[in-house]
This record gives sequence, C-alpha cells and structure tokens, in this order.
Amino acid sequence: MIDLHTHILPGIDDGAENETTSLRMLLMQQREGVDRLFLTPHFDCRKGSVEEFLRRREDAFDRLRRAAAGSATPEMKLGAEVRFSPELMREDLSRLTLGGSDYLLLELSPRRYPAVLEEAVEEMLDRGYIPILAHVERFFYFCGHPDLLAGLIEQGALAQVSADVVIDRKRFSFSHACIKHDLAQFVASDAHNTDVRPPNLGRAAAKLPDVFRRRMNAFLNAVWEGRDVPSAPDPSTPNPFFCRRP
Ligand SMILES: [Fe+2]
Repeated sequence: MIDLHTHILPGIDDGAENETTSLRMLLMQQREGVDRLFLTPHFDCRKGSVEEFLRRREDAFDRLRRAAAGSATPEMKLGAEVRFSPELMREDLSRLTLGGSDYLLLELSPRRYPAVLEEAVEEMLDRGYIPILAHVERFFYFCGHPDLLAGLIEQGALAQVSADVVIDRKRFSFSHACIKHDLAQFVASDAHNTDVRPPNLGRAAAKLPDVFRRRMNAFLNAVWEGRDVPSAPDPSTPNPFFCRRP
C-alpha cells in the first residue's frame, strides 16, 4: 500500500515536530500496511522560493534518514503539497512533483474557488504535469458544486480524499460521493502527527469498495513508478456529472 500524502518529515511544516515523532509515524504507517509513501511537506511559492524549500526538505530528509538508520521503514520518496496560486505557474514545477514523476500534489485555497484554476490545470497538463487535487472533500465550493470538480477531472486532473472521512462514514458524505462517482481516484492519510491526524490509510482502505481499491492501487503504483495512470474510467462507477461519458 502506498500513502500519497503525508507530513512525516521532521520540523519542516505543521507535521511531525521532530525525528522522534517522524519515527513513530513511520512505525504507525507500517502497522497500517503502508510499505511505500511520499513525504509531502507544504510548499507555497508566495512564502518562499523553491530553492529554499528544497534545501529545507533535503535537510529534514537527511535528519530523518539518520534517525531511522538501522530500522526497517517504509520506502520513502520526496514530494510536496504545493499550494496553488497564479504565481505558481511561473515556477519550474519539475522540482516539486511526487518522486520526480509528472504528478503534482496540488492544494487549493479553502476560501474560494481559484478563478484561473481551469486555465492553470490546462497549462499544467500541456507542460506534462498531472495535478492531483489534495483532500477535495474540504472545499465547500466542490461540495456545493461537484460539477466544478467533475470538470477538472474531465480535463485530466486527478483527486484525493482523506482517509479519516472514509473511515467515519457519518462525518462527510461528499467524500463517499466522490469515491462512488469517480470524482476522486485516491485516498491518502495526510498524516500530520501520531494522535489528532495519525497515519490511518489501512483502516480507510478496508472500508473502500473493492473496485475502487483495486483501481486506486493501480493508479498509486503508476504514480510511484512515474508511469501514466490507466486512462479509461471504470464502467462500474457511472458518473452522473460527466455528460460526455456513456
Ligand atoms: Fe497535507
């Protein structure tokens, strides 16, 4: 099992505060059945340069590897949770992707739907990047207008929902609608610590429909290996939001 979205690197964002917490989180990941994961600290180009972020990320990764030396951990690759802003489009996105692949974990503004998002997604795709929209269940504009999310998926973006809302069915039905109607292709932990937002992907995966879980694993393996994801939508998940699909 692969966790696409984690904040395990120590002392770089609002995730693990130090190496001890990081190691505990890695152990929890293993107990969840995760054997590979992406380390995806927050990056916002309005708050600092890519170069500075990469330096801090490499330093945190060095500290984590030194702390973990001699113990078995999941296999780890570097990535980022990249905050979308129009300014982001001026950056060299290749240095922010998941494990050097073409996939970019993209975080949107919680307050309002970005006016230029569709053009930006089009430009990213033209430049060879595939945005994966992080925790789409959090955004009220998608909950109220799933057609907005459907449009982005139809353009070629992918989407992730959070494991905690999959585990607790009562908490948020929109994430379940995303899974049912092909508006999300991934579930990830977005783990930040060991208690309030812990690694929990295994528990979420156990609650996923078999068809979704099988396809998600195929997609995750493709992201991990830097390959194209299977493009055909699963016919068993008919999507009422895609008017052009059968
Ligand atoms: Fe995150």
